Amino acid sequence: MKKGLFITFEGGDGAGKTTQVNLLSDYIVNKGIDAVTVREPGGVPVSEKIREIILDNVNTDMHNITEMLLYAASRAQLVSQIIIPALNEGKCVICDRFVDSSYVYQGLARGLGIDVVKTVNDIATQRLIPDITFFIDLDPETALKRRLALTKPDRLEMEDISFHRMVYQGFATIANMYPDRIKRINASGKAEETFSQVKEYIDPLICRYTD
Ligand code: TYD
Repeated sequence: MKKGLFITFEGGDGAGKTTQVNLLSDYIVNKGIDAVTVREPGGVPVSEKIREIILDNVNTDMHNITEMLLYAASRAQLVSQIIIPALNEGKCVICDRFVDSSYVYQGLARGLGIDVVKTVNDIATQRLIPDITFFIDLDPETALKRRLALTKPDRLEMEDISFHRMVYQGFATIANMYPDRIKRINASGKAEETFSQVKEYIDPLICRYTD
């Protein structure tokens, strides 16, 4: 039976999501809470191998359905090998992207539709739903600037700005679909300002570990 706390972070490329994941992970561990932090696609050896295939710049001919199934396959392994066992032990699990990314990228931006993506992912996740999801909300133009200043883009990051606008709109749509679970976090300021919004939601949830 699930006793732990499952937290996910979502958002477009370059929104600063991974920085927030790391800040939250440090914050929780510093409170003495047993936490596991993972990223998608990846997180365990099988899933990291799948990640290499998905993100490889050579694979320009990958079909949208292949891509959706690879994300789901990577997720199935991570959920069964790490996330569910950790939650059953009462741990706090923080995941950098989860099923909402598939709804948005594969379902909406690639046009496969949310229903198809949900059907496949209900199998992959064993219907596990996060307790809380943070949508790290930054407009795609600013995100692109931040991103290009930092790294060499991978296959998905090379998509043009119109794709990133679609992704952004997609996250806004999903956030409206699940308003109880998904919290929209304004990421236009400094990382610490973004994190203080995250903390406001997290503090009441983690008091069960610290009280
Ligand atoms: P990554 O380099 O981890 O990007 P980020 O740091 O922004 O999370 O690459 C993940 C890419 O995979 C990103 O472009 C979003 C995409 N993605 C999907 O299309 N579907 C999914 O289900 C997931 C988890 C990620």
